[in-house]
Amino acid sequence: MTALTIPRLAEMKAQREPIVMVTAYDYPSARAAERAGVDMILVGDSGAQVVLGQESTVAVTTDEMLVLARAVRRGAASPLVVCDVPFGSTELSDEQAVATAMRFVKEAGADAVKLEGGGPERLSRIRAITAAGIPVVGHIGLTPQTATALGGLRAQGRTSSTATRVAREALAVEAAGAIALVVEAVPTPVVDAFLPELAIPVIGIGAGPADGQVLVLHDLLGITEGRTAKFVKRFASVGVETVAGIAAYAAEVRSGAFPADEHQYGASDEAVEAARA
Ligand code: KIV
Ligand code: NA
Repeated sequence: MTALTIPRLAEMKAQREPIVMVTAYDYPSARAAERAGVDMILVGDSGAQVVLGQESTVAVTTDEMLVLARAVRRGAASPLVVCDVPFGSTELSDEQAVATAMRFVKEAGADAVKLEGGGPERLSRIRAITAAGIPVVGHIGLTPQTATALGGLRAQGRTSSTATRVAREALAVEAAGAIALVVEAVPTPVVDAFLPELAIPVIGIGAGPADGQVLVLHDLLGITEGRTAKFVKRFASVGVETVAGIAAYAAEVRSGAFPADEHQYGASDEAVEAARA
């Protein structure tokens, strides 16, 4: 199978075929996403939290993200693989941003990179990376890398001033050359107000149906512990299943039920005798 192409993505929007995107961080999760038939995989910097156990996405490095991205690419040939460029890897200059994006393409085989924000500097980065021949996916609304400046992890665009900002940024990100746009935690009516103005697909997360959806894999599988955001739906209980599986293994080791005969190797009497010597 060939990779889902960017023109095909635009066609899906035109034909109102919902685009399915999910995050993945390693080989087995990428294999599972591909086998489940998703259109796009995001190697999200949410991996900082869900697989590396960090407090936020801010500390994760490009080298760490590249390890995850390479594993995902090995596991998924046909979905479009989009990699988050981490906080600090694009902020200094357009040149830094292009160099970082290029690493994800050359070292990990990314099809596109995702960049948070829609302010003037961010638009300049999107233009520069696009001009270098690397497709960019935008990300506006709640942008976790700069959440502190937004007043925390909260919905954006609920007031008229922030709704104006979100709508303007959506149009500006498209004009800068992005091939798709993730909109996170924005009221559905606000998204619906600017959606008809956009030619590129809008992938929502807490932003209504839009042109498609993205969710963090560990959230939708029920691996994430504790409270999750309002926009998360759990579609499975993999966390509970995982603990139950490990606990069953531990119990059988302790009781002596595992390993059973069928999990053990046999040997000739001569081999056993020789082992005594
Ligand atoms: O890192 C991530 O998982 C993301 C999605 C939530 C859009 O950026
Ligand atoms: Na992210």
